[in-house]
Amino acid sequence: MSEKHIKIAPSLLAADFSSLGEEVKSVEKAGAEYIHFDVMDGHFVPNITFGPPLIKSLKKLSSLIFDVHLMIEKPERFIDDFVKAGADIITVHAEVCPHLDRTLQMIRDFGVKSSVAINPSTNPRVLDYIWEKVDMVLVMSVNPGFGGQKFIPYVLKKVEWIQKRIKEVGLNIDIEIDGGIGTDNAGKVVKAGCNVLVAGTTIFGRKPVERAIKAIRDSLL
Ligand code: DX5
Ligand code: ZN
Repeated sequence: MSEKHIKIAPSLLAADFSSLGEEVKSVEKAGAEYIHFDVMDGHFVPNITFGPPLIKSLKKLSSLIFDVHLMIEKPERFIDDFVKAGADIITVHAEVCPHLDRTLQMIRDFGVKSSVAINPSTNPRVLDYIWEKVDMVLVMSVNPGFGGQKFIPYVLKKVEWIQKRIKEVGLNIDIEIDGGIGTDNAGKVVKAGCNVLVAGTTIFGRKPVERAIKAIRDSLL
């Protein structure tokens, strides 16, 4: 369906918080490529989760790619801390970065991959001019803040537009989709251009995780 290998990024938000180490190990064993961390500050989004110390303690247990999604205001204050904790990819939201170019450069200067997230209602043109500074674009397919929400179908058009622009600029930029992803829509988002699929409820909420991940992959065939 796509020339790029599709990566699965289980979102820890839907995991059992009383045994996070085991949860991370289970998705690694099941063949996920990434582990997705939803960092929330209670300001940009109406929820609070966790920060660098938790990521640092899990880093010791896993060799998955640590995909850190910052849903926080002024994320530039914490890039250093998340890099030290073990982030491999850091995503900031365009809506809270007036100096997006500078923030992305800061992330790259720390030697990790840079990524920009856009909310469902955000115009993707905000990405124009910064393609050279970004390794991944994260398209939110729900309003950020909570797991288990319903996929918003109009974001598919946005993914198509982003994919087209990436081809035009001729760069190798991943497109990650986040929110409400399951076996019913994974094929559609891949067809639209996504190659990294975040899934929380569909993976950690439907154990065993091996079967849930396999079901997503099978739905792409
Ligand atoms: C929402 C988060 C998502 C969320 C996805 O703000 O960014 O990563 O955990 O959860 P599901 O897959 O349950 O929609
Ligand atoms: Zn996320």
